[in-house]
Amino acid sequence: MRFTVADARTDPLPAAGYDLVVTNFFLDCFRPLELAAVVDRIAGACAAHAVWVDGDFRLPTEGWVRPVARGLLAVMYAFFRLTTRLSAHELIDPAPLLAALGFAQVAEETQLRGFLSSRLWVRGAGADATGHG
Ligand SMILES: C[S@@+](CC[C@H](N)C(=O)[O-])C[C@H]1O[C@@H](n2cnc3c(N)ncnc32)[C@H](O)[C@@H]1O
Repeated sequence: MRFTVADARTDPLPAAGYDLVVTNFFLDCFRPLELAAVVDRIAGACAAHAVWVDGDFRLPTEGWVRPVARGLLAVMYAFFRLTTRLSAHELIDPAPLLAALGFAQVAEETQLRGFLSSRLWVRGAGADATGHG
């Protein structure tokens, strides 16, 4: 096993054909254009049938929890922007980017009424088996 510390926005990723990617509370660190570039670069280093596990905060789609989650996210982003060099201002759902790169969401587990989610994506798996976009 090899660990590398690098900036995911700029570090050249080897065309290694990775078969597993795990991005837990990572993709929420990027602004929209950065996120698109990072997802594109990681996907470019993946194998044709790669599996991608993405766990992160999500904005719930409906109900009272949605405005509460929106408020919590605003406070969290303000805090992390103050205390770290985080450039992102808001949570961007990477789902459309992954789907556009040929990944299909095949499972999702959620907690806190959808505020926390872990999604399983498989490249080349065809239709979204969860029914989510
Ligand atoms: C909220 S932490 C999550 C850490 C870990 N994945 C976890 O779930 O505990 C976000 C991580 O993303 C890393 N990170 C943020 N921007 C990055 C970048 N441009 N390149 C590489 N790592 C980055 C941070 O250093 C931090 O370790």
